[in-house]
Amino acid sequence: MIFSDRDEAPIALDLHPDWVETVGTGARDLELEVGSGHGGYALAFAARHPDRLLVAVEQRKKFASDLRERAERRGHRGLVVLTGDARLLAPRLFPAGSLAAVHVHFPDPWWKRRHERRRLVDDGMSTLILRLLRPGGLLDFRTDVERYARDAVERLEQAGFENLAGAGKFAERDPDEIPSTREKRYLATGQPVWRLRLGRPREAR
Ligand SMILES: C[S@@+](CC[C@H](N)C(=O)[O-])C[C@H]1O[C@@H](n2cnc3c(N)ncnc32)[C@H](O)[C@@H]1O
Repeated sequence: MIFSDRDEAPIALDLHPDWVETVGTGARDLELEVGSGHGGYALAFAARHPDRLLVAVEQRKKFASDLRERAERRGHRGLVVLTGDARLLAPRLFPAGSLAAVHVHFPDPWWKRRHERRRLVDDGMSTLILRLLRPGGLLDFRTDVERYARDAVERLEQAGFENLAGAGKFAERDPDEIPSTREKRYLATGQPVWRLRLGRPREAR
């Protein structure tokens, strides 16, 4: 059993809960956002896709509880916000092959060389995300840090992802794409963003 540490009322969840049943929206597609921060992406996603279920995992309690309140106020039943470390929670929340998409937007850069190993997208997380995605499922990764982007593309392809833009390449921004809170700033200033759209291959390699 796992617990989401909601400030007001902790809820208990079974290992690999049946999300569709738990949330009761009838949604079929299940997606995960890792590190939702102030929640600009999650809220816009929920408004645009009431037929999908997005689980947003954010380790900072205040960010997560503010986002949860806003989602509740707006009546977004398909958005579940959990507080915690996604690296520990994700394997308990989702069975292998269950996610249609995973979103990782602007993970903390950990600039210093000696801190780089704290980065979210390390070998363990790359393999975990690949395993949790269903065949054909998508990893949507964005960063403003070129060195992080170059490291991530190599690492993720090595883990077994198929790069939809071509090996070693970054994706163009789809004008219809929902920006995250941080990305809105960059769209306004023109600061570059590196984006990866990577699929879990349909056929086992
Ligand atoms: C730079 S912010 C970006 C927030 C948001 N994705 C955006 O683009 O506006 C990175 C966020 O990831 C969260 N985070 C970092 N590591 C995490 C982890 N292991 N699990 C969950 N959240 C994490 C941080 O607390 C922070 O809110």
